[in-house]
Amino acid sequence: MSELVAVAERIAREAGRLVLEGRPETVGVAATKSSAVDVVTAMDLASEDLVRRMLAELRPHDAILGEEGGHRSGTSGVTWVVDPIDGTVNYLYGLPAYAVSVAAVVGEPTPATWTALAGCVHAPATRETWTAGRGLGAHLDGRRLTVAAAPPLGGCLVGTGFGYVAERRRAQARVLAAVLPRVRDVRRMGAAAIDLCQVATGRLDLYYERGLQPWDLAAGALVVTEAGGVVAGLRGAPAGSGMTVAGASERVAELARILEEQEADAPDGPGGE
Ligand code: IPD
Repeated sequence: MSELVAVAERIAREAGRLVLEGRPETVGVAATKSSAVDVVTAMDLASEDLVRRMLAELRPHDAILGEEGGHRSGTSGVTWVVDPIDGTVNYLYGLPAYAVSVAAVVGEPTPATWTALAGCVHAPATRETWTAGRGLGAHLDGRRLTVAAAPPLGGCLVGTGFGYVAERRRAQARVLAAVLPRVRDVRRMGAAAIDLCQVATGRLDLYYERGLQPWDLAAGALVVTEAGGVVAGLRGAPAGSGMTVAGASERVAELARILEEQEADAPDGPGGE
């Protein structure tokens, strides 16, 4: 297990160096995905390319699921789930909250079916590195993390994020309007993997987001659970593309009830996902 953590960290740091040092003054948009605001930069592609080359050398029998390059099968049963830049829009604008997220999982590489073994979220601009190994705990730059008992919901600082499609955003804005008056405040920092790690670090009490992809979630969710927190969906469902709620368990249950009342994972309506 610790070998997988070391591989995840080595790769995330190396890709993070490329991403940070290779950032030109002006970053261009190389392509768009689900909508005009869902962007890919040349560095997303270069970072994933580097991660894939390193994995081919270090772990040649493992499968890879990457945000930009899709799935490559393997024979070992281990899949590496990779976000080469989580927080691409921050990267585009020169905001520091972006990270390389690398996780090793076994089982079908979806949050409902995998068992995460190891993960690293490396934020090169802030020089912070979160690591976690199944049964080995979670660490920020070598310091062991423990999710603290959160204050009552009204005193919680809550992170969230938004999708890229207009109908999804309308639904998320409606849910946000129900959550915001009931908590201390809400932050939208722009990188789901870092948001999850901030819950483990005590810089956010809770985090919720609908529509996360496996690569947004794999490493950060392991950091939260290894720090003693909970990462769940609504109505007993696992975290993932429906809804993800993370934090200390009593507060996750409380926030989940509000999100359930709001039907926060209901279909978005015309044009939605
Ligand atoms: C996005 C970020 C963002 C979250 C979106 C993700 P990307 O990932 O994590 O914070 O709100 O749901 O898609 O596109 O920057 O890799």
